[in-house]
Amino acid sequence: MNQRVNQRMQEVNDFSVNVSGPLSRTDAESLYESAIAQGRDISGRVLIVNESGIVQIDSFSVLNGAQITSREVVEVLSGEKDASFGYHRIQSESGEDFWAAYYASAVILDSQTIGAAVFSENVQDLVDKAGLIRNQFLMIFVGATVVIFGLSYISTNHISRPLAQLRESAMEITKGNFATRVHIKGKNEIAELGKVFNSMSAKLENLDQQRSEFVSNASHELKTPLASIKILTESLLYQDNIPENVYKEFLGDINQEIDRLTNLINDLLLMTKIENDKEKMDRQQVSIDLLLKKAVVALKPLADQKDIELSFTWNQNTVITCDPMRIRQAVNNLIDNAVKYTPAGGRVDVGLEVHGEEVAIVVKDTGEGISKEDQAHIFDRFYRVDKARSRETGGTGLGLYIVQCIALLHEGRVEVESEKGQGSTFRLFLPIAGPSAGQDMGAKEEKKA
Ligand SMILES: Nc1ncnc2c1ncn2[C@@H]1O[C@H](COP(=O)(O)OP(=O)(O)OP(=O)(O)O)[C@@H](O)[C@H]1O
Ligand SMILES: [Mg+2]
Repeated sequence: MNQRVNQRMQEVNDFSVNVSGPLSRTDAESLYESAIAQGRDISGRVLIVNESGIVQIDSFSVLNGAQITSREVVEVLSGEKDASFGYHRIQSESGEDFWAAYYASAVILDSQTIGAAVFSENVQDLVDKAGLIRNQFLMIFVGATVVIFGLSYISTNHISRPLAQLRESAMEITKGNFATRVHIKGKNEIAELGKVFNSMSAKLENLDQQRSEFVSNASHELKTPLASIKILTESLLYQDNIPENVYKEFLGDINQEIDRLTNLINDLLLMTKIENDKEKMDRQQVSIDLLLKKAVVALKPLADQKDIELSFTWNQNTVITCDPMRIRQAVNNLIDNAVKYTPAGGRVDVGLEVHGEEVAIVVKDTGEGISKEDQAHIFDRFYRVDKARSRETGGTGLGLYIVQCIALLHEGRVEVESEKGQGSTFRLFLPIAGPSAGQDMGAKEEKKA
């Protein structure tokens, strides 16, 4: 629009200079021709007024003799401005409203304003275009606002809110509330983080539960023999004239309970030692046949006592890498169980199987067997199948858990095959090459030395 105004102002100025001569001479013919030609050029209307604003020439030949009082004309005739322009809403002959631009320039002769040249043109098309552009801007503005709101909604929903949730849950975990979980929907990285966070807190919750379960089980196991000792001691203390044989019997029972306590504490210590000193494995090349033979010889008296035949079948001289003390402990626990849970007259066979890269230490008995349901639990801490009978046999339910810990330390496993009343076979699988060296720094040092 500015461009159009500048151009027209230039043209009206030029025109006013051109018509100053004819106007001063009142050369109507020449003025009319100029006005018509100029009007055609600008596709608009051209008026020439005298110094009083009276129309001398109208290219449309309508307003001749009329007085023009529009602001632009008044401004240039009064000398206030040399040229002026403005927009007017006017009505066409057909009665439609439209926007017109008026451009006026003073006609000057010898420094005297002798009239004015006035152009008028329909600028409705320009106004329409401007309106269109304004509407487009409005649409862009509305669109951008929607996009910005959308983006901030997404960022709040997908980034800020989940992060705030994660932070709150992490704080809950710090306070010890491990049951806390985050609920993050979607498939982005934050949702993945949420999943990892949830599995971490589930694991922590599980560990916490195990810890408190362990403490309560251990306390219970320690309390039972202590309670027996207390009852036995008190009955001796508060009874008079107790025969010597009763004394001996009671003291024998007390002694048994003390053994039970000692065994339990030893097992607990061993267990924590295995769990804590995972890195401190004493890796050695060990003849596993020899190790088994020694274990069988050591436990033979126990088996004899119960009238159980304990035998060992030599395989071949199989050498594996392991921590011999720990493997011996595991084998002892397995043989001890086999003897303990096999009735008199039964058999316990110890042997070795080689399966490719691993060996299996086999302890097979003709004992009472273990039901499928119990098989799922016998490796848990403190789990005993027959709790009342274990009291007599002195078990605490830690033996197989320790065997499993030792197996895992060696990157092996322990499996059971059994049916109720059909005897049981335990297999402790160990890799021949031993646990991977990364786990055992101590062994490397040793090899170097
Ligand atoms: N050879 C087996 N035959 C039958 N039952 C067995 C055998 N070995 C283990 N069990 C069952 O599995 C349970 C768990 O065994 P585990 O060795 O862990 O504990 P325990 O022998 O009771 O006590 P601990 O070994 O700590 O003195 C036992 O109580 C027993 O019921
Ligand atoms: Mg046992």
